[in-house]
Amino acid sequence: MSEGTGRTSTAARPGAPRPGAPRQQPAGTAPTAKGAPEEPVLDLSGVTVVRDGRPLLEDVSWAVGADERWVVLGPNGAGKTTLLQVASGRMHPTRGRAEVLGEELGMVDVFELRPRIGLASAALAERVPPRERVVDVVLTASYGMVGRWREEYEGPDHDRALELLAALGVGGLERRTYGTLSEGERKRVQIARALMSDPELVLLDEPAAGLDLGGREDLVRRLGTLVADPTSPALVLVTHHVEEIPPGVTHALLLRSGHVVGQGPVDQVLTAEALGDTFGLRLQVGRSGGRWSARSALA
Ligand SMILES: Nc1ncnc2c1ncn2[C@@H]1O[C@H](COP(=O)(O)OP(=O)(O)OP(=O)(O)O)[C@@H](O)[C@H]1O
Ligand SMILES: [Mg+2]
Repeated sequence: MSEGTGRTSTAARPGAPRPGAPRQQPAGTAPTAKGAPEEPVLDLSGVTVVRDGRPLLEDVSWAVGADERWVVLGPNGAGKTTLLQVASGRMHPTRGRAEVLGEELGMVDVFELRPRIGLASAALAERVPPRERVVDVVLTASYGMVGRWREEYEGPDHDRALELLAALGVGGLERRTYGTLSEGERKRVQIARALMSDPELVLLDEPAAGLDLGGREDLVRRLGTLVADPTSPALVLVTHHVEEIPPGVTHALLLRSGHVVGQGPVDQVLTAEALGDTFGLRLQVGRSGGRWSARSALA
């Protein structure tokens, strides 16, 4: 990303790639032959998650390639956050198999896996201490933790955190405490945090929720820049609203009641019929200038 949120930014942690350096092969994946497709960063096969005897996800099979940018759409309670929990190694399938960055969940130390994944979600945001300085909220991502506790961070890490905050449009807030930020500012700080560890996979759960119209449009533009950058990591963005899909998103997955309604290239999946099935509505769906819109066909 030209504004510095992508993988070309200053290296953040020991071993992170330098600007212009070739992309790291995820640990545990074999080098691919020239021209052969890279291994998926996410590979779910028949994943079912059961809680209290009820399936929250049922028989979900889904693969995300390293150069793909996905949107996951579905109504409240569809299982989107549960899916990201699995994708981030925070929840194991009850049945089925989940491979994340080439590592099978259940066979890998998830504490080693998590720093390789940038996650922004409401649940994580709630765990940020309100008195935490904004710059520290971003910096602690390098260590896969929330809340600063006697760590010492190097100069380049600090510089990168400031760079990311600026790239997300919240430069200048680094010395404020997190609890004093507006909802929109917090969202941006969370995304900066998700990008801090130079992750191989970025998972954003409703990044535009709570933003006003100007804030949403600005964030969609910034995310559009991120997804258009070929050096950016694979990205999965969860939303309820097609208007929040940044231009450049390549694939879509539709979820309803824990079941996949459709998945594949965004142009093929985001039809009025499939979105209508997903949300239980008759819809009119439009696309203009790389942006999507939807409204009830009855309106
Ligand atoms: N730990 C749990 N135990 C029992 N039920 C759960 C648990 N976690 C989630 N659920 C239920 O699973 C369903 C799916 O939840 P999930 O948070 O994945 O939905 P979602 O698609 O993210 O919804 P929203 O759009 O409202 O964020 C919901 O009905 C929720 O109440
Ligand atoms: Mg959710």
